[in-house]
Amino acid sequence: MLHGEVQVPGAKNSVLKLMAATLLAEGEFRLTNVPDIADVSTMCELLEALGMSTQRLNAHELLLINTGNITPVAPFELVDRIRASINLLGPLLGKYGHVDIAMPGGDNFGSRPIDLHVAGLEAMGAVFDLDRAGVKATATHLHGAEITLKFQSVGATENILMAATLADGVTTIENAAREPEIGDLCDMLNKMGANIVGVGTDKLTITGVSPSTLHAVTHEVINDRVQAATYIAAVAVVGGDVFVRGARAKHMEMLLNRYAEMGVSITPHADGLRVVVTDRLRSIDFATLPYPGIATDYKPLLVGMLSIASGTGIGTENLYPGRFRYVDELQKLGADIRINGHHAVIRGVEQLVGASVNAPDIRAGAALVVAGLVASGETVINDIHHIDRGYDDLVGKLVSLGALVTRRP
Ligand code: EPU
Repeated sequence: MLHGEVQVPGAKNSVLKLMAATLLAEGEFRLTNVPDIADVSTMCELLEALGMSTQRLNAHELLLINTGNITPVAPFELVDRIRASINLLGPLLGKYGHVDIAMPGGDNFGSRPIDLHVAGLEAMGAVFDLDRAGVKATATHLHGAEITLKFQSVGATENILMAATLADGVTTIENAAREPEIGDLCDMLNKMGANIVGVGTDKLTITGVSPSTLHAVTHEVINDRVQAATYIAAVAVVGGDVFVRGARAKHMEMLLNRYAEMGVSITPHADGLRVVVTDRLRSIDFATLPYPGIATDYKPLLVGMLSIASGTGIGTENLYPGRFRYVDELQKLGADIRINGHHAVIRGVEQLVGASVNAPDIRAGAALVVAGLVASGETVINDIHHIDRGYDDLVGKLVSLGALVTRRP
């Protein structure tokens, strides 16, 4: 049983974009509630390679200084480490009119195209030179455009948004992604002097401002809904009574409804969620969708939970058809899961059994840790550098709740 309180850290998928946005204005930016994760360090290295200076003031505060002396060419070795390096595209084009970066790396769940980023920025006047190795683009005059995304892409919405902030005239993005992290980016950009309306909706209207209007700011990163979901999942599989401080029900409503259907009692408070679980979980069916749907990042956790629930559940992946690589690892723990196209059919078993498994990516790695909490005997998780990319002291936080987890050097 897990007991006590856990603090949800700042969101990886917000802070990396906020860091990219500091390229848009000169001055000293201070970000607070920054998660202490490897991807933030990589993004610091990337920004420094471009000409910025970065400094961790403490574990959760970051100072980023942009003196305007930027070379918009990003080195392959760093770009290859994180997907969010694609987020340099919008601000570099918007502010410096040129960009030269390698194709971004990050988690491997199959094809991760950037056609929507390119089409949106081309509509604004950018000219691209793409090959398998990288992306080169120039924009002598970025102008407003009416852009309708054929899919609510998080990254494309963010790139267009950041480029449009300094473009000449008005840009509209229809069918924009509306994840809370995009709201956080819009809030910071508006604080910097940008003119974005429709924040939180699927239609964003950005009126370009002059570069001298934008200025550096201090901004607090929103909390990480996926890390919050992970701690709730941990209580769900092991049982217990935990206060997840900083989790916001408003950012994860659909997921919380599904958790509740599975038998997780969640009581929202002003400053977090109280999570109580006393009985075996019940199976449900779910499908991933862009926000406000069930995020694809929650899926490995849900599949792990269904592995030990009573009954059979079906999890459908609508964003990344290749995002099932962790299923083999859950099967090593005794889970009964069949993959059929983009559906996973999970028949709950009474007990998972400890084994040695490999973390294939960030979220799947965390889901394996959660599954390991409830598996009998010892579970060893290898390749934990994936987990370190997005989780801030997962082991320490679980231990503080009473879990038996150790990190081997
Ligand atoms: N897509 C296209 N063309 C594009 C862009 C996207 O077809 O130009 C498709 C993708 O192939 C995919 C879907 O659209 O099927 C979603 O992609 P999206 O652009 O929304 O995702 P992303 O910006 O690459 C972010 C998060 C992911 C998260 C997804 C979906 C960051 C750094 N990454 O990726 O987070 O899974 O949104 O919510 O913000 C993670 O944190 O572990 C992670 C993988």
